[in-house]
Amino acid sequence: MSAVLETQGMQVRPLGARFGAEITGLDLSRPLDAATRRAVFDAFIRYNVICIRDQKLDPDRQIAFTEQFGTLERHTVRNRGAGNPLVHVVTNIGADGKPSGKVANQLWHSDKSFRELPSLATILHAVTLPPDGGDTCFANMLDAYDALPEAERRDLAEVGVVHSWELSLAKSGKQASAEEIADAPPMTHQLVRTIPETGRKALFMGEHASHFAGRPMAEGRAQLAALEEFATRERFQYRHKWRQGDVLMWDNRCLLHRADQNFDAAAHPRVLHRTCLRGSAPA
Ligand code: SIN
Repeated sequence: MSAVLETQGMQVRPLGARFGAEITGLDLSRPLDAATRRAVFDAFIRYNVICIRDQKLDPDRQIAFTEQFGTLERHTVRNRGAGNPLVHVVTNIGADGKPSGKVANQLWHSDKSFRELPSLATILHAVTLPPDGGDTCFANMLDAYDALPEAERRDLAEVGVVHSWELSLAKSGKQASAEEIADAPPMTHQLVRTIPETGRKALFMGEHASHFAGRPMAEGRAQLAALEEFATRERFQYRHKWRQGDVLMWDNRCLLHRADQNFDAAAHPRVLHRTCLRGSAPA
């Protein structure tokens, strides 16, 4: 992918070998006109993850940008807000105000996959970056699905997967509160979902995907782990190296993502603001 596309005063340039693109020439602090909004959405569909360069958005402006594409989704009750429950602060700063040495979200996941209407898109804006590293990695579940043997695709066609915030926390030794479980009860979604805009099929799984519905838990978990190992191989990945002012917008329906702690997280702060767009039931 090497072409530069110019439309509506913005330039779209591919970033990864198979997906990912950067957009320059936009100012997201002001409302987009209908044609520009359409062009941004088209780039989002075509490249799965877009990076809009050189922005400076406060939380209200980030919400206003996100709202132009649909309904915002709040985070779980664990939200660490930026003065607004619709903006989640992704940070390695501890309660004492210093870098804690820990970076969250390092396992492959799709944001809010445990919701009845899992997230369509995540918008993540760099606020404070380490001098180097702190990348976000993406794995393309469309390409991974296409690369599966035909017989396996047939076997997986009707499989339902239970996604659970509670079981997801348990995997990392944390206990969900009764309030959290009531707020985010387990949800079953099809493992193979179709992206309506393109008709392509994607594997829908990740950290919050617990087991196969109606089948023994251990067996489903092992199959999910094997599928994830395959689907997140290097050849399906794009690694985003952040620049100050980047706004990333990615498609949670067909990408898994994870933060990479490839910097000294005990020495340097890394702070990003996240908004999510509600999606529709996977079909
Ligand atoms: C996320 O999982 O939404 C955040 C990823 C990151 O911190 O790079």
